[in-house]
Amino acid sequence: MDDKEKRSSLYTLPTKKEKYALLEQKNQESLLGGGQQRIDAQHKKGKLTARERIRILLDDGSFEETGKFVMHRSRNFGLDKEHYLGDGVVTGYGTIAGRLVYIYSQDFTVFGGSLSETHAEKIVKIMELAMQNGAPIIGLNDSGGARIQEGVVSLGGYADIFYRNTLASGVVPQISAIMGPCAGGAVYSPAITDFIMMVENTSYMFVTGPNVVKTVTQENVTAEELGGASTHSTKSGVTHFSCANEVACLQNIRNLLSYMPQNCEDFSPKVPYAYLDDESRMVLDDIIPENPNQPYDMREVISGIVDEDSFLEVHEHFAENIVVGFARLAGRSIGIVGNQPASMAGVLDIDASVKAARFVRFCDCFNIPLLVLEDVPGFLPGTYQEWNAIITNGAKLLYAFSEATVPRITVITRKAYGGAYDVMNSKHIGADLNFAWPTAEIAVMGAKGAAEIIFKKEIAEAADPVAKLQEKVDEYTEKFANPYRAAHRGYIDEVILPKDTRTKLIKAYKMLENKVAHLPKKKHGNIPL
Ligand code: HXC
Repeated sequence: MDDKEKRSSLYTLPTKKEKYALLEQKNQESLLGGGQQRIDAQHKKGKLTARERIRILLDDGSFEETGKFVMHRSRNFGLDKEHYLGDGVVTGYGTIAGRLVYIYSQDFTVFGGSLSETHAEKIVKIMELAMQNGAPIIGLNDSGGARIQEGVVSLGGYADIFYRNTLASGVVPQISAIMGPCAGGAVYSPAITDFIMMVENTSYMFVTGPNVVKTVTQENVTAEELGGASTHSTKSGVTHFSCANEVACLQNIRNLLSYMPQNCEDFSPKVPYAYLDDESRMVLDDIIPENPNQPYDMREVISGIVDEDSFLEVHEHFAENIVVGFARLAGRSIGIVGNQPASMAGVLDIDASVKAARFVRFCDCFNIPLLVLEDVPGFLPGTYQEWNAIITNGAKLLYAFSEATVPRITVITRKAYGGAYDVMNSKHIGADLNFAWPTAEIAVMGAKGAAEIIFKKEIAEAADPVAKLQEKVDEYTEKFANPYRAAHRGYIDEVILPKDTRTKLIKAYKMLENKVAHLPKKKHGNIPL
């Protein structure tokens, strides 16, 4: 027997049919992730699997998977005997409403979705494809953190992702959904992305968990209290959306993307809209109360202006004294920032400034025109605010507006006082058009405060100081609590009736749609962080 004959008897090479069958077998194996038992355990916790989530999120049949057969390379702690195809993350691309997106979805059934070297490589690969091809990245997070058996290799994998998140920032939209645990350094990938959504009761995010908190600060706190969806949507503002369940969360991602372009060189899609005639906008004339100190809901103003049911509020339950969100005007996306007189009189404080600044910057990154609805009595006074840097934080909003080159329009509905007048997209910091309603009061401060300062002596010496104060308040109000002084100066382009606002804005954004504005040449600015 010669050598050749010997070799062929040692190996039974598969036929073509068997090769095809092997592929099918591997495909089936990969679909099972960590196995049926762990899938059942996932369902028992009220959670979907990584693949079920993708199926709900993407257009039917559009998902194409990459790296399906990737396996970890670790040999420590028995891992050389435990392999799962895909290594705990499903990656690939597909479409949402026909538009390309890149996606990764962590599979908790494989080592608790923990991040290994290869798991990270798969995520990095689709992030790079997304940047090169200009389409959004969606991350569905459900992970026990770093793959403990892999040590520093896993930490390196996280840093590789953080780095790509930073490079992709402002290039393509990045959305993170937290659908299970997200703890330790793992939180910093979502934190760099543009929007975070969390699922109520089944997700949490924290840098250090309840046990470490107990050891270090002696505080007793549950995971839900420390970092659940309700905490992060109300107290910390870490999450932009709190979703009742996973399906609602996935639908919210689809909806959110509909307002955005694919990348920083693209524009948001235009959608069909129902035209409502001016009569139906008459309601705007009735919103501002006769008494200037009475609150009203800025959301009513928004819904009176924008296309029907098109407002998607972001950060709804955090810093409620400012309202931000996306809407459409004649089918085109806009980003709205509105002071909210119904909460703390719409005053600007640290949280409101930071919330609005980040939103403004997102809109500017992705060519979404800005609309500011202004009714602001000023910045919030107090030691808490000063000691926690309202100066630096308020400056973020000022900086964000000043730097924004998208079309920018302001409508002053009522108060525009003090520094807040300047900050809220005033003409002076580059707004393209500034409108005011006849109810606008544009002044250094409210009439009472102003009268008490400039007529202090006169009031003190009056026979009836109370009557004198009222007289001076009325005098100041008559002189300054209106939009006309600012309009005489050209700071206000036009004083308009509320009911005409929608029509004026549609025309104004159309006029501005080819706006080109450049910032001075620089490496990058130094926003007061
Ligand atoms: C490897 C892990 C894992 C991890 C979970 N598993 N976390 N395997 N590395 N980090 C495995 C478990 O062994 C188990 O395997 C399966 O995943 C499910 O875990 P359970 O504990 O049974 O699930 P549950 O009770 O739901 O608890 C989930 C959990 C818990 C809260 C996430 O598993 C946990 O506390 N894990 C460790 C979290 C952690 O400390 N991670 C490192 C953080 S430091 P079997 O085989 O039984 O299914 C970090 C640094 C990142 O992440 C730094 C970046 C800069």
